[in-house]
Amino acid sequence: MNKKEYLYIKTYGCQMNVYDSERMVEVFEQNGYIPTDSPENADMIVLNTCHIREKAAEKIYSELGRYKNLKKKKSNLKIGVAGCLAQAEGEEIIRRQPLVDLVVGPQTYHQLPAILKTVGNGQKSVAIDFPVENKFDYFKATRKRHHGVAAFLTVQEGCDKFCSFCVVPYTRGAEISRPVSDILAEAGEMVRHGVREITLLGQNVNAYHGVGLDGKICSLAKLIWELAKVNGLERIRYTTSHPNDMTDDLIEAHGECGKLMPYLHLPVQSGSNKILKQMNRQHTADMYMRLIQDIRKARPDILISGDFIVGFPEETEADFEDTLRLVKEVEYGQSYSFKYSARAGTPAAERDLLDEDIKNERLHRLQSLLSCQQKASQNAMVGNTVNVLFERFGRQEGQMVGKSDYLQAVHVADCDLTVGTIAPVSIVAAKTNSLTGSLNV
Ligand code: 5AD
Ligand code: SF4
Repeated sequence: MNKKEYLYIKTYGCQMNVYDSERMVEVFEQNGYIPTDSPENADMIVLNTCHIREKAAEKIYSELGRYKNLKKKKSNLKIGVAGCLAQAEGEEIIRRQPLVDLVVGPQTYHQLPAILKTVGNGQKSVAIDFPVENKFDYFKATRKRHHGVAAFLTVQEGCDKFCSFCVVPYTRGAEISRPVSDILAEAGEMVRHGVREITLLGQNVNAYHGVGLDGKICSLAKLIWELAKVNGLERIRYTTSHPNDMTDDLIEAHGECGKLMPYLHLPVQSGSNKILKQMNRQHTADMYMRLIQDIRKARPDILISGDFIVGFPEETEADFEDTLRLVKEVEYGQSYSFKYSARAGTPAAERDLLDEDIKNERLHRLQSLLSCQQKASQNAMVGNTVNVLFERFGRQEGQMVGKSDYLQAVHVADCDLTVGTIAPVSIVAAKTNSLTGSLNV
């Protein structure tokens, strides 16, 4: 490519898409593109998409529709769809929205240079195979760009669990784990560029089983202990976990590894054993509760976060009340809750659906309870001192914003620290989604 072209990339969905988008930007840069924040300036627009619920997919099609006029004005504008919608719908996307030039699934991002050549020659391209080569051998962070002080690092991708409602095993494929040496190299590179906190990502991150430095299979707990040795890396987190892979060594690490932060996202989805069985979760509500107790024994102050689905086919009022009961017992500090959305190709999609009104009513009741718990957890911070990693300057003069050990956003006025500093902060006030504090001097 002789002249510079501009790339606009918009990311939907989970943190893995955020990580993938950063890597895609690096590939585009190596192929002569400059990132831009404005679709109007772009020569290439890429939507990195999500397919987890129907709403997520519909949003993408309406966004694509908005680019019709841009494409009319600029005949050489190329439009791409990446991510899980691309994987799930492939060529159908171009049939439904002919302005799309390229469709690329998450397992083929490393083939982007070849795909860009095809598209540059005026042809359309659909790349959604699961190739035999490992994409991570070609698709790793180069960290030439500034990525802030807290970063994501994908260590595991895909899922072999096949929960009956979930598209992930089909869009992200079978579980693969990256070798420890690759992860340490990427983490080291991040730390050299100023990163102080890394969140290890995987659809089933605690099922991590990469090749260790000694050539033997390494667990997530062992990987965390290896990363804890990296000088300059101060905080480690991981997400998302499945209860069945919450092993003893990982629970122990929460008690003993000072760099592993006291926050755990552990989805349960439902509190009813009947529904958990129909969801193919392979655990009961009691098993989940026992885990929570063990984790709290290891790290009493840990903040627990969860995912919930209400209105699963055949969920009765009694099943739903089991979920409310479990939530009351756990006391979540953070949560994500959704109405069940039938996804084509998943086993649960075959079954009857509940009335939308029932789903809405249950979601409302669950969210009221969860929101009370979140408020209580935030209020309990007032009067405490917590360590905060300062990530950026705030909107007000002299204000800085960071994250507590428990992943809460913290705003501090009259704060003249450098970005990347970790400092103790006394919490003076709490809102549902943020805390306010002052520097301990
Ligand atoms: N409908 C509603 N929520 C879903 N999730 C996954 N699949 C579906 C679905 N079909 C939720 C689960 C999961 C989170 C990422 O999204 O709670 O943990
Ligand atoms: Fe989906 Fe998570 Fe179940 Fe895997 S474990 S199928 S990603 S909900």
